[in-house]
Amino acid sequence: MFWRKNGHKSETATAEQSPQAVIDVRDIAKVYKMGDIEVHALRGVVMKVYEGEFLSIMGPSGSGKSTLMNILGCLDQPTSGEYYLDGEAVSKLSESDLARVRNKKIGFVFQSFNLLKRTSALRQVELPLIYGGEGGRSKRAKAALEAVGLGNRLDHLPSELSGGQQQRVAIARALVNEPAMILADEPTGNLDSRSGTEVMQIFQRLNREQGITVVFVTHDPWIARHTNRIVMLRDGKIITDRPVPHPLVAGEAERPSEADEMESIFKETYYGGDKQEYN
Ligand SMILES: Nc1ncnc2c1ncn2[C@@H]1O[C@H](COP(=O)(O)OP(=O)(O)OP(=O)(O)O)[C@@H](O)[C@H]1O
Ligand SMILES: [Mg+2]
Repeated sequence: MFWRKNGHKSETATAEQSPQAVIDVRDIAKVYKMGDIEVHALRGVVMKVYEGEFLSIMGPSGSGKSTLMNILGCLDQPTSGEYYLDGEAVSKLSESDLARVRNKKIGFVFQSFNLLKRTSALRQVELPLIYGGEGGRSKRAKAALEAVGLGNRLDHLPSELSGGQQQRVAIARALVNEPAMILADEPTGNLDSRSGTEVMQIFQRLNREQGITVVFVTHDPWIARHTNRIVMLRDGKIITDRPVPHPLVAGEAERPSEADEMESIFKETYYGGDKQEYN
């Protein structure tokens, strides 16, 4: 499935062009060894994510979401199986090569923002460019902050910004290196619903207008319905992987009551409308 239909680039993408898989994960397993005990955190995950997709990973606690994100983000290696990131085989790379790939190709956004306390917004966003030894830092950092609507907050410290604004600084920092994809671990988990909506608007805009690939973990079905595809993990395996019918536009629809929300997400997305399948 190729998700460019709402983005600028869709106008230039033709049916003949085969889309590039940004993520191509082939039968990966992850076993944590703790003394004599083995924990099988991932058991044969197969997944492809194409350029321009916006995907959420859901699943109960302990189902392997963070383990998978760590591998996708080149923070950890699978025990077996292969991972091609943007065409490059990364599952056998050394630590230092992995760090290089990570810095160049992946932007991370965390639940707790992970900003430096005494550092201005502009400087926070310049940091990945400094580590990467890149030029034109201040101009590029400023452009990234403008892209998330913070062009008028360049000199603010995190304590002088709202939670939603702090998360937007973190998104700008993830973007500034022009990564192949953004990985976000519960990016709205610490935000009130209004700030959560602001952050979703940014992600949707980056995805739709610039075709940026976004993968994130969420426990919130309402948030997941704003993405184009939901992958559901259970016990280290993908149990469903489905497109979201009519993804919501952030800020347009009102959040329904929990019951309606659960009902529709299960019906439409996880189980294709067949109630018999879940209990
Ligand atoms: N470093 C580790 N060492 C040993 N076991 C681990 C380690 N990290 C995770 N696990 C185990 O692997 C399984 C998957 O964990 P993971 O953190 O990926 O779950 P998760 O889906 O992210 O859960 P949550 O929603 O609670 O964050 C769990 O059983 C967990 O206890
Ligand atoms: Mg987790």
